[in-house]
Amino acid sequence: MLIHITPNKKVVTEYFGSRLFSLKEATALTRTYPTGQGTSLTYDEETPAVSLDYLKADFATAGRGDYAWPSLILSNKDGGVFDFIFQSAEVRKPQNIVGLPTPHGASEELVLTCVEPVMKVTILLHYFVYESNDVFGRYLEIKNENEFPLAITRAESFQLVIPNREYSLVTLYGSWANENNVEEVRIGHGRLVNESTCGLSSNRHNPFFLLKEKGANAQKGVCYGFNLVYSGNHEESLELDAFSSLHIQSGISPLYFRKSLVKGASFVTPMAIMAYSKEGTNGLSHIMQHFVNDCVIQAQYKEMVRPVVYNNWEATMFDFSKPKLVSLMKKAADLGVELFVLDDGWFGSRDDDSHGLGDWEVNSKKIPGGLKSLSDIAALHHMRFGIWMEPEMVNEESKCYKAHPEWIIQDHLHKPIKGRHQFMLDLSKKEVQDFVVDSVSEVLNSADITYLKWDCNRMMSDFPLVPSTFFHDYILGLYSVLARLAFTFPDVLFENCASGGNRFDLGMLSYFPQSWLSDDTDSFQRYYIQSGAYLGYPLSVCSNHVSAKTSNQMLRKSSLDAKFDIASFGILGYELDLNDLTSIDEKTIAGQIAYYKEHRDLFQMGVWSEVKNFSESHLALWQVQSGDETIIGTFEKLQEPAPEESHLEGLNFKGDALYHFSSRQESISLKKFGHLANLASPVHLKEEGVLQSIVAAKKDMKSEEQEGTVSGNALLSGGVFLSQEWSGTGYNKDVRLLGDFGGRLYYLKKI
Ligand code: DGJ
Repeated sequence: MLIHITPNKKVVTEYFGSRLFSLKEATALTRTYPTGQGTSLTYDEETPAVSLDYLKADFATAGRGDYAWPSLILSNKDGGVFDFIFQSAEVRKPQNIVGLPTPHGASEELVLTCVEPVMKVTILLHYFVYESNDVFGRYLEIKNENEFPLAITRAESFQLVIPNREYSLVTLYGSWANENNVEEVRIGHGRLVNESTCGLSSNRHNPFFLLKEKGANAQKGVCYGFNLVYSGNHEESLELDAFSSLHIQSGISPLYFRKSLVKGASFVTPMAIMAYSKEGTNGLSHIMQHFVNDCVIQAQYKEMVRPVVYNNWEATMFDFSKPKLVSLMKKAADLGVELFVLDDGWFGSRDDDSHGLGDWEVNSKKIPGGLKSLSDIAALHHMRFGIWMEPEMVNEESKCYKAHPEWIIQDHLHKPIKGRHQFMLDLSKKEVQDFVVDSVSEVLNSADITYLKWDCNRMMSDFPLVPSTFFHDYILGLYSVLARLAFTFPDVLFENCASGGNRFDLGMLSYFPQSWLSDDTDSFQRYYIQSGAYLGYPLSVCSNHVSAKTSNQMLRKSSLDAKFDIASFGILGYELDLNDLTSIDEKTIAGQIAYYKEHRDLFQMGVWSEVKNFSESHLALWQVQSGDETIIGTFEKLQEPAPEESHLEGLNFKGDALYHFSSRQESISLKKFGHLANLASPVHLKEEGVLQSIVAAKKDMKSEEQEGTVSGNALLSGGVFLSQEWSGTGYNKDVRLLGDFGGRLYYLKKI
């Protein structure tokens, strides 16, 4: 990054790209303006050719000739024109942003001070250099030195202006059970906005986004990536201006936002991060994955091996008893699970979602002996014990709400509306923060609980007095609570959940090292949800569960192994009724967990890449790589007639090295073959008949096995032929049967 203080004392980024080697390059990379342009206004008569309209300023205000969207909107009693000029620069040891999460490990911080002499306001531009991660961080600090209050109505964390190279914008959009869809649009002239206004960073528009130069793809070409270390309302905007420069901004959403500063007061924005890669979207994603692991996740979690989880939610929902939980625990332990998580419904009068939130005492009718008795039983089975809470919420039907109706978010004019029968507590209030910290602490201290799933199942409404800093104050309150809890319970593994991915962002990851990505556990949907997430976030922070064969969300059937093939890329868990498993299912799951543990380091800490997606091939391929080891996952969308040849292809292999590869053998149910099973069965098996079910519970078919040795060059150019795929004409041990939504994993190791 080359930052230039222009003769007019404006701060301009002249260059953002591949590493520069010498300051001698600066002159050649700095723009000159020998003549003015058209109708643009002259900023200063001494340099008449220069207009703020086309300077590439690092922040922009309105009213002095810059007609692109300002990144900063201020006003005071004297008006709204602010003209900042550079005053001084300081390089210092990086300092944390007060009250907001600050990624650690920066090598240095540059602070540029700019002043508005007439309005008496100072701006500090903070640039963080994460040198070994190839990432820059930026945030803005605004200080009012005027005796009259200053109003801030827009304060984006950064602005970067880059030359037009026919970019596409890639964002992650979605909704409940449908998170992280990758959408790519061509950027034309005008303004594009990606934002959340619901109080959470949201599953609608994740704050992560990237830009692809024309021609860039997964493997090559220039990409720019951005994210915001923030969990509330955010806005990312892209404006291709009249001179075809692209203005990129990101920060707190200005909708409903207004901050007033008295003399001497200051305001800081959250940090935005930015990165550049010439190695396509995979190269950019690798930078993001490393950055989150190295600089966002707190150091004590960085190397922490994440346990294999069993969670009872999809198996029981609210309908469980202690004997039921104990039976699930025993089964889970036998299968190799390491952490048993009791989800919603264990407290207060909570037998459905209309009661109990806010009353965090155990329901001793459901769980006689309390949580301690369950954590003891888990320990007897050599498992850890974890719990679900939704601490930011109350039901109207709760003791908590009845005692403190004033604690919920409300405008005191309308009857507050509910989501999932619940109100949201107002975490901007100190007494509410204390209540949340105390109630979570009491639960964690009541038993041997080493994991907490922190849920948040509604968005904000009925907010008081806007525009204001209400939404931001809520997030500051939340961060203060999370920091207090993470500090007090360093041995508890916290998992962030907001109906799945409704608050999946770098702010939450700064406190809680992992996140439940989505309530959609259907493996085929999950392929899309995880593919999107891994563009900006590492496998180590994403938790994924294998659920029952018929998906709760899609009613789509897929095999347990197909579900594992997807869920294993990240942190693995299970959430199906283990008492309903056939003996074949039990063997299948035990085999999956053993395989996962054998390769856990790779699945959790390896670097993910997309090798192919469904727009390029009928078989999508992911890989995860670390050192000499790689796992490649191959995924089928729909079974094709006369399927074309498929290959085991991968990325980043050493051309002249040899690799041994082997497929993971899967279980194929006899039921998959329907009435065709009779071609091999000595007794007639009526399709979907009782006998077929009885036989299929005890006997399965095994998938093909394929292994061999091959050079990196072969894997990189064309790849290894995979065994012939099922084509409707016969089946034997060498036929590769994936079927609709099926998959296969291959483990490769350099010899
Ligand atoms: C939403 C979560 O995403 C689910 O996993 C589950 O915990 C439910 N809430 C429980 O109410």
